Formats: sequence, structure tokens, C-alpha cells
Amino acid sequence: MGSTNVTLPSASSPDLILVPATPEEYIECVRLNSAAWKGPLSRELYVEREKHLLSQDLTKNGGLTCWVLVDRNEPVGCRVILGACESLQKRAFLAYDGRVEDVLSHGIGGVYVRSEFRGKGYAGRMMEELGKKLETWQAGNELRKKSLFSVLYSDIGKTFYARFGWIPFKSSHITLSPTSPKEAKPRVSLPAARPMSTEDVKKSMCSDITIRKQRELLRVTSEKCPGVKVAVVPNYEHMVWHWAREEFYAKQNVLFSKTLPYVKGAGVDSQNVYCTWARTVGETPNSRTLYILRWMYDEPKSPAEEKATVEAIAAVIQRAQLEAYEWEMRDVQFWNPTPLLEQAARILDPDITITHRDASSITSLRWNGAEQGLSSDVEWMFNEKYAWC
Ligand SMILES: CC(C)(COP(=O)(O)OP(=O)(O)OC[C@H]1O[C@@H](n2cnc3c(N)ncnc32)[C@H](O)[C@@H]1OP(=O)(O)O)[C@@H](O)C(=O)NCCC(=O)NCCS
Repeated sequence: MGSTNVTLPSASSPDLILVPATPEEYIECVRLNSAAWKGPLSRELYVEREKHLLSQDLTKNGGLTCWVLVDRNEPVGCRVILGACESLQKRAFLAYDGRVEDVLSHGIGGVYVRSEFRGKGYAGRMMEELGKKLETWQAGNELRKKSLFSVLYSDIGKTFYARFGWIPFKSSHITLSPTSPKEAKPRVSLPAARPMSTEDVKKSMCSDITIRKQRELLRVTSEKCPGVKVAVVPNYEHMVWHWAREEFYAKQNVLFSKTLPYVKGAGVDSQNVYCTWARTVGETPNSRTLYILRWMYDEPKSPAEEKATVEAIAAVIQRAQLEAYEWEMRDVQFWNPTPLLEQAARILDPDITITHRDASSITSLRWNGAEQGLSSDVEWMFNEKYAWC
């Protein structure tokens, strides 16, 4: 709906409500937020991209909810959208005292207020309402009738969302340059890393057995270290959702000169080391990043195992660098590196630095567990790019 000639309500008005958007309002929200997020796409293509993302397994059939802040007195079909955001249903693990549960969580994205409505408190009111809504949203069939947590990735610093309960967590990353086949000469000889297709990623990183193994890892960790641990399940639906974006770009032939990006990750089977990645584009052609979405490796139990694991990780990173070179990416990044990942990256580039983000993609989590009798301290495990939305 147009925004001209309307008297805007106060952000504290009891008449404001946050409700799921109608399909028409959803498209209107996408059109509005295209001003911030369309990047190099035309507005029409951006709307098509969002529709494509909405049709993925992670998001379809209610997986994604678009929320709009509106005045309850305005009739559906012609109400003014004061603010909008999205929530994505995410399966999660909760572990404490050696126990693990399957729970529901939500990821939040697309927080948007059109420029002419900004600075009036609408985003603040929206986040306040959203926090309350998400506690019970889609929890009908869950054992716990209230959701324990939700996550978001702040591009507007650390304080705004914290006011409404989304507290900043560790948000660091390692950046590596693309590597040409000629340059790919590491200091030590590395094992061969095999490129992985979608099916390979599904089998090696997201099979039922692998997911169960990760669930068990959380349980065991919670036995050893006190406090609550949570993780968004790194399931195949998440990876496919990220790939849907790069595949859209490739199919439209607007951003990549190549055909479909076939290689989705790399692995060294003998060491059980795997990662999966996705190519992203920013505002300019020079802001393309190959993001490693998720790492998997077994914790080594001896110095010899550690050496073998680190070298296998380095081989996989190098395969990512080659892929980035082939796709003309600016860099390769991965989030919240563990000491082993850092060690491996240093084999390839001893001068790497770790960036601690304080302005964009600040991983933030709102924890409702304390009201449900759990500890107020929570550790966010597997806090990697795959859960971003
Ligand atoms: C961020 C946004 C939703 C805020 O909407 P709004 O209705 O103006 O927000 P409110 O009036 O409730 O609150 C504004 C607060 O957000 C802060 N804020 C807004 N944009 C900011 C930015 N880029 N960096 C840091 N803080 C920002 C303001 O400083 C203000 O803080 P204050 O209350 O201490 O003065 C709006 O500016 C927007 O849509 N921006 C473009 C899209 C975007 O960046 N979304 C966030 C993605 S994580």
C-alpha cells in the first residue's frame, strides 16, 4: 500500500499488531525491501529470487513466515505496512546434563522499515512483538509448548537487538584468498580433497546417521561441561536453501558466466573431514564470497591424529580456494574457526587474521530457557554460516 498522505500511528499505540502477511503483502514487503537487498539484481529479478527461495524445503509450507506490523483497525488488503520481518522454522538440539532433546527454534531475517517510516520506533515495536510471538509460534506439536530460542544476524551493530533479548555471540571469521591451480603449492604435502556434489554433501554431512552423530556430540559435550548447549540442526534443507540462491544467479546468467555450480564442498574421506560451501554475491561484482557453510571432522585423540586431521582440513580449504578462483570470487570465508581450523588455515597462509565482526552478521541469540527452568547461560554450538538467514 502507498505510504503517502497517511497519518502514522505512534509506535507505542495499542492498536499496532504483528501478524503474518497475506501473500499479496508478502510480495509488497519484498518489493519494499528490495531497496536494501536486491544487490545487482533488478527489482523484478529480486522478487523472483525471493519466490524461488520461498519454494525450498526449508521455507515452503509455512517454513517461512513473513510478519507485518500494522494497525488492527485497517482492513486486510489495504493496511499500511509499518514494518516487516521474516521468521524461519529451524529444528534444533538442546543438550544439558548429558541429555539431549529435539526442539523448535526460529531464525529471523529481513527486518525492514521503509526509509520514510524510519526513526519512529516501528522496528523496536516489531522486535518486541516478535519476541513474544515466537515463543509459541508453530509450537503446537512440540513436546515443549514454548520455543527455547531464536537467532538473528545483526547488520546494525550490537545494541539494537540486544534491547529486545537477542544477545550478540561470538562472530569471527577467517578470510583466505582464492588460489589458482599454479599457486596451489602448500608448504607440506596434503592429502587429496575430493570435490563434493549435492548428493555427496547429503551423504557425507547430512545423512540421518551423521545428524545423529552430531546430536550425540552435543549430549556428550553437555555431560563434560556444565551449562546448556543449543544448536540449529545442520540439516540438508539448510544447505539446499543456500544453494538455491547461487543456482538462481547461475540460471539467470546475470552474475556468473558459468553453468550451474556443481561443486558444493570438499572432503577427505580417510580422515572424515568435510565442508560444504555456497557462493554469494554482494552489491558489487568485486564482493563475491565463497562461504563455507559448515565444517565436520572428528576430534583427534592423539598428536598423530591431530596432524592428520589438520592436514586434511588444509587440503579441503585449498580445494575451496581453487573453487573460489574458478568462480572469480573475492575470497573464501568461514565463521567462528576452531583452533584446529585456524591451524589448518595457517598451513596455507601463515599471515591470516581472524576478523571479529562488530557491525554486520553479528550472530545473536534470544534465550527463553531460564523461564522454562533451564540455566540462564547458554552456549551456541555449531555457530556457522549454514544457520544464517
Ligand atoms: C534497521 C531498521 C529496521 C530500523 O528501523 P526503524 O523503524 O528506524 O527503527 P527504530 O525507530 O525502532 O529504532 C531505530 C534504532 O535503530 C538504530 N539503527 C537503525 N539503523 C542502524 C544502523 N544501520 N546501524 C546501527 N543502528 C541502527 C538507530 O540508531 C535507532 O537506535 P536508537 O533507538 O538508540 O535511536 C531500518 O533502518 C531499516 O529497515 N534499515 C534497512 C534494512 C536493515 O538494515 N535491516 C536490519 C538488518 S539486520
